[in-house]
Amino acid sequence: KFRETFPRRLFEWHGENAYSYPWRQTQEPYAIVVSEFMLQQTQVKTVIPYYLKWMERFENWERLANASEGEVLKAWEGLGYYARARNLHKIAKIVFYEKQGILPSEPTELLKLPGIGLYTANAIASLAFGKKTVALDANGIRVLVRLLSIHQPVNKVRALKELSRMAMNLLSEDSDFSLFNSALMDFGRAVCKALAPKCMICPLKEICQAEQPEQLPFKPKKRIE
Ligand code: ADE
Repeated sequence: KFRETFPRRLFEWHGENAYSYPWRQTQEPYAIVVSEFMLQQTQVKTVIPYYLKWMERFENWERLANASEGEVLKAWEGLGYYARARNLHKIAKIVFYEKQGILPSEPTELLKLPGIGLYTANAIASLAFGKKTVALDANGIRVLVRLLSIHQPVNKVRALKELSRMAMNLLSEDSDFSLFNSALMDFGRAVCKALAPKCMICPLKEICQAEQPEQLPFKPKKRIE
């Protein structure tokens, strides 16, 4: 029941409620990478104007690869976590000067680039290259952990991989993984919210196993040293 209902209801919900972010108008790898880097630690509504300005100033790998560090950091000003800008700049140089302008498409290859972790590698692979891979950000993790009532923490790579595998098994060969990943993010952001989940209007409530969704995902208490 779950396996049949979950993706169908999620896609139905998304068909009517998808957010139309500017980076969703494209599958261009450069644009997807820029947006994912900005979104790593910054809220969507802050990212949108920065993303648009960035894409005008540095419209492709070549332009970014040949920009000065000062110029790059200046354009990032206000977003914080400047390591992201430096890593993005490094990636542009690697792609343009060492890879003939072609970004690798496999998650395992993407993971070797600076500043790209498990989520970002899978997001790029699915959103830019149509790879059949699940990309779980904090929103996606929260949705799945609640639906399946998982009480173990998912803050380690192993647990995250296990959860991704479970999600993968809920889809079929011909599912659109890129759309699934976007739908899960949007659903987490709009309905299955961290603090006040909208269970009253949730299209998945009949198959949700969470008893107290606002208590999930479980976060181990920080030990006081
Ligand atoms: N958060 C991280 N990546 C995102 C994306 N591609 N769309 C919306 N929210 C996101």
